[in-house]
Amino acid sequence: MARIPEDFIQTLLDRTDIVDVIERYVPLRKAGVNYQARCPFHSEKTPSFTVSPTKQFYHCFGCGAHGTAISFLMEHAGLGFVDAVKELAARVGLQVPTETAEADGEAQRRRDRLHEAMEHAARCYRDGLKASERAIDYLKRRGLTGQTAARFGLGYAAEDWQGLAGCFGDYRDPLLEEVGLVIAGEGGKRYDRFRGRVMFPIRNERGRVIAFGGRVIGAGEPKYLNSPETSLFHKGRELYGLHEHRRAIQQAGEVLVVEGYMDVVMLDQHGVENAVATLGTAITADHLQRLFRLTDSVVFAFDGDAAGRKAAWRALENGLPQLVDGKRAGFLFLPEGEDPDSYVAGRGAEAFRRQVAQAVPLSDFLLASLKERTDMASQEGQIRLVKLAEPYLRQMTQAPLLAAALRRRLAELTGVSQRSAPVPVRGRPAPRPSKGGRVRPSPWRTLLLAILQDPARAGQLAALPDDPTPAAGLLAAVLDRLRREPQLRTARDIVEAFRGQAEQAALERIAADLLTLGEDYDAAPDLSGALERLREQARRREIEDLSRRRLSDLTPEEQQRLRESLRGGKPDGDPPVQ
Ligand code: UTP
Ligand code: MN
Repeated sequence: MARIPEDFIQTLLDRTDIVDVIERYVPLRKAGVNYQARCPFHSEKTPSFTVSPTKQFYHCFGCGAHGTAISFLMEHAGLGFVDAVKELAARVGLQVPTETAEADGEAQRRRDRLHEAMEHAARCYRDGLKASERAIDYLKRRGLTGQTAARFGLGYAAEDWQGLAGCFGDYRDPLLEEVGLVIAGEGGKRYDRFRGRVMFPIRNERGRVIAFGGRVIGAGEPKYLNSPETSLFHKGRELYGLHEHRRAIQQAGEVLVVEGYMDVVMLDQHGVENAVATLGTAITADHLQRLFRLTDSVVFAFDGDAAGRKAAWRALENGLPQLVDGKRAGFLFLPEGEDPDSYVAGRGAEAFRRQVAQAVPLSDFLLASLKERTDMASQEGQIRLVKLAEPYLRQMTQAPLLAAALRRRLAELTGVSQRSAPVPVRGRPAPRPSKGGRVRPSPWRTLLLAILQDPARAGQLAALPDDPTPAAGLLAAVLDRLRREPQLRTARDIVEAFRGQAEQAALERIAADLLTLGEDYDAAPDLSGALERLREQARRREIEDLSRRRLSDLTPEEQQRLRESLRGGKPDGDPPVQ
């Protein structure tokens, strides 16, 4: 992809006002120096979405969504990075300079042609359904109304080796192969991939057709034939129904993840309009990220059989790292032999909704599954449970509170305690909460905040001690960047400079924290305070090191230093820093 020069991004952001950008999508209300609204990324009653005109950042105190004007267009309008930049540039009348602007336009035109081919095919299949009594009959027998079929654009691919030839002017166009509609066999013979199947068009989030799923009528193998992976379609990323149900999901505050096309379609027909389906794969981390961006609650529905349990466990494993405190994942197991389609058709929407409401929380499902693997009657088995759980708990990096609660439950269950909280080290007090009741941040994090607030102070942080913590590494990366690129002047500039790199997410979080500090936050006292704490820590570490060695082993200089520091020190001064 064409690279957009970084200084152009800075120029663009300098000329853009994030308030104008967001206002076009979300009605903003002035609240002090900031603007507020009900968060567009999760459903809420009271506004916790805040846009800061001075910081040029947005942050939701409810769901934690945050970022720059570019991030907003990417997350909310679903644009790619390049499209988001183009959109902003068009608004302020700038031309995006890419090194290969022409090639870029060419690629976009090509993509458009691929989408158009798919959309044309969808129209052909829709006409095919109208013309096929057999297919209409089949859908009717399954209880589907014409209205539902139309809503999802269902179609039919006739039992014909070259059915699409009657539809596309040039059946030999290599493009048809590229999108997976036509297969080129031996000897140059070309034929339709989908024949004699009811067709489900798969749309991307923006509503463009990118693939198809085709169900055989009656018995036959495979039951469902799907488009292959193409440049338009990556099945580990897409979810069937997401485009159609996006709004309903946001309104319901919950999304239901089911296994099949027919489940989504039939639930919809019965008024359950917040379901999506994976496309014959297990749910991926990518899927979950997209869903949790829309809503705080994800419920997975599985068949009540062994295969369903296995699929559920895989969903759990993929889901743990994506779970964020305050968000919820539930598991719904239907009675054996039922899927959401048959359940809702047989017992109605209300019964189905009751099932959803009784979904098992992820934490219960995790513990119950692990307990099945151990003999809970013996002490050994209980210890084994604690050991088994640990790798899963460790993956919950974004849900430390839930992980801690699970550790407490495990301790109660087994009498085996794990270190669920920092254990106070001999003679030292535990970290003391600061005014807000929160644990005081590490000096590294304080320095990061101060530098993001006021990058011009980077020069004051010349010689910092080495430290293996991530925050220290992040600070070093930021300082290095600022040395090399002095044109980065604000938090927003710094975050954008790290876009697409490992540091981006952490920096965005810290930048969002800046908004909580208020407009008149002065970085100077924090900065010198944190430096003082670091010096104090280094001094204490040195004393510990020196006092652990025998006095006779120390050089005269070291003995001198030890005496001095013991005299000047206040041994239990600062709290340990996590
Ligand atoms: P199921 O076999 O559970 O089918 O496959 P279903 O959803 O109940 O379909 P009906 O009711 O018999 O029509 C669930 C999903 O797995 C994928 C499809 O995405 C399907 O919707 N699948 C299944 C395939 O991709 N290929 C297959 O051969 C079967
Ligand atoms: Mn089914």
